[in-house]
Amino acid sequence: MERIVITGGRPLRGAVRVSGAKNSSLPIIAAACLAPDVSVLENVPHCQDVLTLQAILADLGVRFEFAGTRMTIDAGGLYRTIPDYALCRRMRASFYTAGLLLARMGRAEVPLPGGCSIGTRPVDFHMKGFAALGAGVATEHGYMKASVARRAKGAPFYVPRSSVGTTINLMLAASTARGVTTLTNAAREPEVVDTAVFLNLMGARVRGAGTDTITIRGISALHGAQYTIIPDRIEAGTYLLCGVATGGDVLAEGLIPEHFQALLGKVTEAGAETVVEPDGVRVRVARELAAVDVDTAPYPGFATDLHPPLAAALARARGTSSIRETVHDSRFAYVDELRRMGAEMKVEGDTLRITGVEQLTGAPVEALDIRAGAAVVIAALTAEGTTEIRTVENIDRGYEGLTEKLRSLGARVERVDDEAIREVV
Ligand code: UD1
Repeated sequence: MERIVITGGRPLRGAVRVSGAKNSSLPIIAAACLAPDVSVLENVPHCQDVLTLQAILADLGVRFEFAGTRMTIDAGGLYRTIPDYALCRRMRASFYTAGLLLARMGRAEVPLPGGCSIGTRPVDFHMKGFAALGAGVATEHGYMKASVARRAKGAPFYVPRSSVGTTINLMLAASTARGVTTLTNAAREPEVVDTAVFLNLMGARVRGAGTDTITIRGISALHGAQYTIIPDRIEAGTYLLCGVATGGDVLAEGLIPEHFQALLGKVTEAGAETVVEPDGVRVRVARELAAVDVDTAPYPGFATDLHPPLAAALARARGTSSIRETVHDSRFAYVDELRRMGAEMKVEGDTLRITGVEQLTGAPVEALDIRAGAAVVIAALTAEGTTEIRTVENIDRGYEGLTEKLRSLGARVERVDDEAIREVV
C-alpha cells in the first residue's frame, strides 16, 4: 500500500495542465460500446475509475488499446451481459453498463454498484427509467436484471432530483429504442452534454442536452466515432483551490472557463483575485481569506464534488463559513479527518459550519473517497508539518498524476510505499 506524504506551508505557484474529464470519459467509453465497431477517444485520463471500467468492459468482450491519452475501443466482440461483480462494486459508474447492455443486447444483469460512501446512493431512478422504456426490471441476489423483448420503447420520463447518472443511463438505453424518449428535469452537467455530443457523432439523435428537457429519437444501429473528451472541471477546481488555500498563484490550463462560474464567484468573494483566459483560469491570493457561505447545487450551481476541497480551503479563513450540501444525502465523513489536523468544523443537519483557525497541523489521515482525498491533500498543503495520507487508491480513482502535478506547482509531496516506511523504521 502506498501513502502520499505532504509537508505543508508553501504557496503553490505556476501552471497546471488539466486532464480529460473522468466523469465524461466513463459514460462515453460505455457509449462507444453501443456500436459493434471501433471508436477512438482522445484526452482520456489515466485514472483508476477509467481503468476499472475498461476492465469491466474487456471482460464482456470489448477490446481496448490505451496509449497516452488515446483510447481505441473495439466493441465488435461484446458478447456477455453480466459485468463482473467485484469490479462493479468498486465504482458507481459501473452502472452505465446497464444502459449500454440494454440498448445493445436487450438485456443486462448488472451488480448493484458501490463507489464513494457519500450517503445512500441507490439506483432506483435508473431502474424506474428502464421500466418506463418498457424493460422488465427486477433486483435479485444483488443484481439488477433488466430486459426488453427486442428493443426498448421510447417514452416520457421525469428524472428525479435531476440525477446525472440517471439522465446519462437513459440516454444510452434510449439511443436504440423504438420511438422518442423525452427526459424532463434532466441533469444539465457538462458531462451530460459531452456524452450527448458523442452519441450524436455515433449517429444517435439526442437533442436538448444542456437544458432540462432532452429528447432521444431511437435508431436501430449506431456506428463508431472519434472524439476528444472535455477537460475535467472538478480536477481543475481542485488545483485552483490548492492555490487559494495556500495563498498562491495557480493557472489551470486547457479548460473551459464557463464551467467555473460558481467556483470563481465564491473564491472571489473569499478574497481571491481571478483572471479568466481563453482556455485557462488563474487564481491569486495575496491576503487572508474571508469566510463564505455556499450551497451545493446541480450545474451551473456550485459542484458538490468541490464541496470537500472548498471546506479544506476555508479551514483557515477569517470568520465562520458554511457549506450546505443539497445534492448528496451525506458527504461529511471527511470532516473528522480535517479535525485531526486542527480544523474547527461542525455538522448541523445538511450544513457544515467552519470556524477558521490560525493554523492546521500535519497528521496521519485517510482519503475516504475521491473528493475527501482532495480535501485532505489541500489541508495538508496549508498545514504546518507533515501529513501522511493513507488509502491513496481513493485519490487515484479520480486524479491522474496528482503528486507530479502538485510538485510542478512547488509542493513538497512524495508517494511512498508502506514497505519503504517499514524499512526506514
Ligand atoms: C455523478 C458524479 C458524481 C457527482 C454527482 C452529482 C459521475 C461518475 N459521478 O454521480 O461525482 O457527485 O453526479 O453531481 O459522474 N439518486 C437516487 N437514486 C438514483 C440515482 C441518484 O436516490 O437512482 C440520488 C443520489 O443518491 C444523490 C442524487 O440523487 O443524492 C444525485 O445523484 P446523481 O446526480 O445521480 O449522481 P451520480 O450520477 O451518481
